[in-house]
Amino acid sequence: MTEEETRQYMENIAEERHKRITEKKEKKVRQRARALTGPRLVIDLSFDELMKPTELKSLTSQVRRSYGAVMHMESPFHLCLVSDGPSHVLTTLSGYDDATQWPATFSTEGLAAIGAEHLVYLSADADTVLSDITLEPTDVLVVGGLVDKNRHKNVCNTRAEALGARTACLPDEILRERSFRVLTTNQVVEILAKVYDVDGEWTGRADDDTWRAAIGEVLPRRRAG
Ligand SMILES: C[S@@+](CC[C@H](N)C(=O)[O-])C[C@H]1O[C@@H](n2cnc3c(N)ncnc32)[C@H](O)[C@@H]1O
Repeated sequence: MTEEETRQYMENIAEERHKRITEKKEKKVRQRARALTGPRLVIDLSFDELMKPTELKSLTSQVRRSYGAVMHMESPFHLCLVSDGPSHVLTTLSGYDDATQWPATFSTEGLAAIGAEHLVYLSADADTVLSDITLEPTDVLVVGGLVDKNRHKNVCNTRAEALGARTACLPDEILRERSFRVLTTNQVVEILAKVYDVDGEWTGRADDDTWRAAIGEVLPRRRAG
C-alpha cells in the first residue's frame, strides 16, 4: 500500500467506527423515548411477605434482568414497577444512582390505581391462553414479582380475580414441548419482549412460530430422564 492508500484506509476505518457509534447512540435515544410511551408492562411487587430474604434478593436481580430485556426491544414496553405499599425491590432499586436513569415508572400505589379493566394478569393457572388474545395498546400486561419455587399455589390468579382483572397464561402446549409450566418473572418478561417486538414494531398478537422461537431462545433445553 502507498502512503496515500494507507491514510485512506485508516480514514475509512475511523469513519465506519464513528458511524457505528452514532447509530448505537441514536438507537438508545429512540428506545428510551419509546420506552415511556409504549404499551405498559407491570411487574407486581406486592408479594414481599411470601418470600425469604434470599428470594427477595433473587427477585431484585430478576427485575434488573427484566429491565435489560425490555431495553433491548426496538419498541420497548413502558416498564412499571408497582407495589401495594413498601417493597424490597423498589427500595433497593431506588437506592441506586442509575435508577433515576431508568425509563421506567416506580409506584407504590398498587394495581388498582391503573384500573382493573386494562389489566391482563399473567398466571400459569389461568384458563385463557395469551396467544389467543389480541392486545390493545391500552392493555396492561402484569407479571407477578414472586420467587417461591411455586410453593404458594395459584397466588397470582387469585390476586387477579380479587382485582377484577383478566388473566392469561403463556401458550402451555409450547411450554410443555420444553417441559416447563411455571416460569420465573424474568423468563416471562424476556419471552414477552421477544414476542411483542417484531421488526422493531410493537404487535398486539403473535403467531405460534413467533411464540415457539421466543420460548426456545429464553428457556434452557431440559435433558430427558
Ligand atoms: C415464579 S412465578 C409465581 C408462581 C406463583 N406460585 C403463582 O401462584 O403465580 C412468577 C410470575 O411469572 C408469571 N408466570 C410464570 N409462569 C407463567 C405462565 N406459564 N404463564 C403466564 N405467566 C406465568 C406469573 O405472572 C407469575 O406471577
